[in-house]
Amino acid sequence: MLKQRVAIITGAARGIGQSMALHFSRLGASVVAADRLDCEETVRQIGNASGEAIGVIGDVTSARDASTIVEASIAEFGHVDILVNNAALYGGIRITGFEDIPEEEWDRVMSVNVKGVWQMCRAVAPRMRHRGHGRIINISSNVVFMGKPGFLHYVASKGAVWALTNALSRELSGTGITVNGLAPGYTTTDATRSMASPEAVKELETEILRSQSVPRLIEPADLVGAAAFLASEAAEFVTGQTIVVDGGTITR
Ligand SMILES: NC(=O)c1ccc[n+]([C@@H]2O[C@H](COP(=O)([O-])OP(=O)(O)OC[C@H]3O[C@@H](n4cnc5c(N)ncnc54)[C@H](O)[C@@H]3O)[C@@H](O)[C@H]2O)c1
Repeated sequence: MLKQRVAIITGAARGIGQSMALHFSRLGASVVAADRLDCEETVRQIGNASGEAIGVIGDVTSARDASTIVEASIAEFGHVDILVNNAALYGGIRITGFEDIPEEEWDRVMSVNVKGVWQMCRAVAPRMRHRGHGRIINISSNVVFMGKPGFLHYVASKGAVWALTNALSRELSGTGITVNGLAPGYTTTDATRSMASPEAVKELETEILRSQSVPRLIEPADLVGAAAFLASEAAEFVTGQTIVVDGGTITR
C-alpha cells in the first residue's frame, strides 16, 4: 500500500508514533522516525523486520530541527512523500482545572502541539510541492469534539490542529499535497496509563468503554488503518478532513 513511499513520523520513539512507524514500514514505506528522544528502538524493530528506517533526534518546535528532519529524509531516501505530525505534549500532562494550569505548561503545550505541526509542515512543503505529491496527516484528538474537561490547554491545542488542517489543505490546493487529520479516542499507551493512579486509570477506562460503540479499548495499532488510507493513493480526493477513530464515542 505504501511501497516506495518515504514517511516522516514525528514522536516515533514510543506510543502511537512508534506503532505507526512499524506499521507503515510493514506496508512498504521507508521511515524517518523523528523525536526529541532517541528512536533507536523503533529503528531496530523495523530493521529486524527487514524494513528501512533512520532515526533523527529533533525538537519539532525548532525551525532548524524541523529542517534537519526533512533533509535527513532527502539525504537517506532521496525524497519525502508522507509526513505524520504525531509528536505532542500529551504524556505527563496533569489533569487540572483550567484556572490552575501552570502558565509555562500552557505555553509549552501550545508550542509543541501547534507550532510544532506548523514548523514541520513548512519544512516539508517545498519538497512535496516540487514533486507535485504529498500526504500530510496531523494527529488531533476526539477530545476536541467532546469538550473534555481537565486539560484545557491540550484540548485547545488539538482544536488548533483540526483548524490548521482545514486551512492548510486549502493553502496547498493544486499542489498534489493533501492535508488531513486523524483524531483518536483514548488509546492505551504508556502516556495514558501514567496520567493518573492505576485505580483512577481503571475507572477512566471503564467510563470510556461505556462511551464507545466498539466494546474494546483502542490500541495504537487500531489507528494505523485510517492513517495508512490517508497516506495512500486511494485518498487522492480526501483533503481538509479529520477522521475520528474512537470506537464510536463521537458521532457527527
Ligand atoms: N494516547 C491517547 O489516548 C491519545 C488520544 C488522542 C490523541 N493522541 C495524540 O496521539 C499522539 C501520540 O500520543 P501518545 O499517547 O503516543 O503520547 P506520547 O506522549 O507517548 O508520545 C508523544 C511523543 O512525542 C514526542 N515529543 C514530545 N515533544 C516533542 C518535541 N518537541 N519534538 C519532537 N518530539 C516530541 C515524545 O518524546 C513522545 O515520543 C499525540 O499527538 C497525542 O496528542 C493520543
